[in-house]
Amino acid sequence: MTEVLTQAAAQEAEPNPLLEGLRLTRMPAPCAVVIFGASGDLTQRKLIPALYALAAEGALPPGVTIVGAARTPMSDEQFRAAMRSAIEEHSRVPLREDVWEGFATGLFYAHFDLQPDDGLDLLKSRLDESDRTRGTAGNRIFYFSVPPTGVLPLADKLLHAGLCQQGPDNFRRVVIEKPFGRDLESALELNRSLHEDFSEDQIYRIDHYLGKESVQNLLVFRFANGIFEPLWNRQYIDHVQITVAESLGVENRGEYYEEAGALRDIVQNHIMQLMAILGMEPPSNFKAETVRDEKVKLLRAVRPIHPDDALSHTVRGQYAAGWVEGDHVPGYREEPGVKPTSLRETFVAMKLDIDNWRWAGTPFYLRTGKRLPKRATEIVIQFRRVPHSPFGGHVATPMGVLPPDAIDPNLLVLRIQPDEGITLRFIAKVPGQAMRIRSVNMDFLYGSSFLKESPDAYERLLLDCMLGDATLFARADEVEQAWRICTAILDGWRAHPPDQDSFPNYEAGAWGPEEARAFIQRDGREWHRP
Ligand code: BG6
Repeated sequence: MTEVLTQAAAQEAEPNPLLEGLRLTRMPAPCAVVIFGASGDLTQRKLIPALYALAAEGALPPGVTIVGAARTPMSDEQFRAAMRSAIEEHSRVPLREDVWEGFATGLFYAHFDLQPDDGLDLLKSRLDESDRTRGTAGNRIFYFSVPPTGVLPLADKLLHAGLCQQGPDNFRRVVIEKPFGRDLESALELNRSLHEDFSEDQIYRIDHYLGKESVQNLLVFRFANGIFEPLWNRQYIDHVQITVAESLGVENRGEYYEEAGALRDIVQNHIMQLMAILGMEPPSNFKAETVRDEKVKLLRAVRPIHPDDALSHTVRGQYAAGWVEGDHVPGYREEPGVKPTSLRETFVAMKLDIDNWRWAGTPFYLRTGKRLPKRATEIVIQFRRVPHSPFGGHVATPMGVLPPDAIDPNLLVLRIQPDEGITLRFIAKVPGQAMRIRSVNMDFLYGSSFLKESPDAYERLLLDCMLGDATLFARADEVEQAWRICTAILDGWRAHPPDQDSFPNYEAGAWGPEEARAFIQRDGREWHRP
């Protein structure tokens, strides 16, 4: 494997002219990107640094115009200064004066308040001016970095101000951040209302996991290699584990988290997307509709957990104070914005079955949590054990050979982050006179195979949106299917709330509550340690 990868690295250095051609076609038309919620955290930490990185890499045409819109009164100059600091602090690529100069001339601010309906005229005139002077030609992206309750009123305002109607020669798109609804009913309602004003191809529901290189690589790994797909089914795979572990707590987002919890925050979107990509059927091409059709088919096949079974099919947890990566950290109930009696889950584990020919009988175990020992997102595919083992071992058995269940099963570990890469674990002979065997790893690491840094997820997604490519965005029906699965669990949980004293049930720095271990052990399986 190493040799093949070395070759791949060498090929990277000598660009394939065909692919270079494809790269050139990815330059979008000039457009104006309006960021609502421009004084917020996301704008500073992710959106502006991502747009800057695209500019630094020459991926944006010179006319691209960015208008920050928010309630805080600010001049263009003040906004530019704040965004410069944001880039200096958060950008993947260091700030370069020549790039910054060009970038800053396309950066504007429009004071905008939804409630008193203040600032829409200013925004409109800014956009018209950008069409005249910067060649944006009426192309607009409205990025809603606003709380969920603000989405519909804002969409409505823009529509009635005539800002969202696209013509044959220009586009108008809206990008909507998660959370997209808070259960199936609210997501259906949100989609229904948005569809009154926008066509589906104008709506870009963002899930930043889809922009991660290692997530896109799942598609390439599955569908550009011939050797894995024949094994990718119930016949060869015992079960799948998807883990999204975070060492961070809820930080300063206590209030939001009290409303959301781990199921809504991570499972409904990021984990469901990973599961859909991992389990979907091969798409016939890489067009947005084709890929999303396959993903939604997989989600539709997930057997909902009946609310009465929610407790036996899931584990809820909440962290207490403890030690994470050498620091003593407070418990969830001590975090700012959190009720001291909160019953909100910061950890969830569950088992889902997929009712189709590919996956029947191969469960998917999913788990996520805050304040776990480390940050690690990974997918583990555990293959079925050998049916019979002819090997003896240091363990004496009556038959003189190891029973099949004493031989570790093969694992394929797809590391989404950090240390992005793929490990195949298989059994090898330990050198020596005796026939001793043990597991070894074959590794692919992004860092050593490709000598360039991966772009941030938001870079890819913002560029795709400018290009009108919705492949890596969630379609209405995908979001609804993910909510169908999660809402059944939420209903079950609501009917059986945890006792006041059953939470917290894991210490910060542990792999979730003890119950989570027992949960998977019940099926004769173990969680993989990232
Ligand atoms: C966000 C969640 O969607 O994803 C956060 O709201 C979480 O709670 C974050 O921390 C994790 O993203 P990443 O890219 O760091 O894995």
